[in-house]
Amino acid sequence: MLINKENLPLVAEDFMNEVHYEDIDLINTLHKNILKFIEEESIENKMLVINTYKQWYSHTVNHFKGEEEKMLELNFPPYIVHKSEHDNCLQRMVYILDSFKKDNNIKQLKEYLENDVTTWLINHIQTMDTVTAMFFKSGVSPCHAQH
Ligand SMILES: [Fe+2]
Ligand SMILES: [Fe+2]
Repeated sequence: MLINKENLPLVAEDFMNEVHYEDIDLINTLHKNILKFIEEESIENKMLVINTYKQWYSHTVNHFKGEEEKMLELNFPPYIVHKSEHDNCLQRMVYILDSFKKDNNIKQLKEYLENDVTTWLINHIQTMDTVTAMFFKSGVSPCHAQH
């Protein structure tokens, strides 16, 4: 297991926490399949990695879309800041999968998942998602929050 759900920061909105837990399940499955490919470099195992990655990617598209739609609906002022973090993350996910398909570089994929993704996700939840969930719950924008 790469990420333990118990270590995941919680936000004020349950619908977001649920999606984050699903995300962790998919990341852990992908990690397991990466290790399987390292153990045995077969076409089957490569396809398994690619298919799990694609599942994780489409889940992430919906994960981000769910937050973005609610931000728009409630006129969350820093919408564009939050959305641009999502967009950058998706772009990188596409790039990493494409390069793995071409060069079979499983080490790069493993490092990306273990370091970049894990760090990004925890940081994103602790900052953007936390502030956004608080706004969804209370209607208080970070721009007008009391210090
Ligand atoms: Fe999120
Ligand atoms: Fe987010």
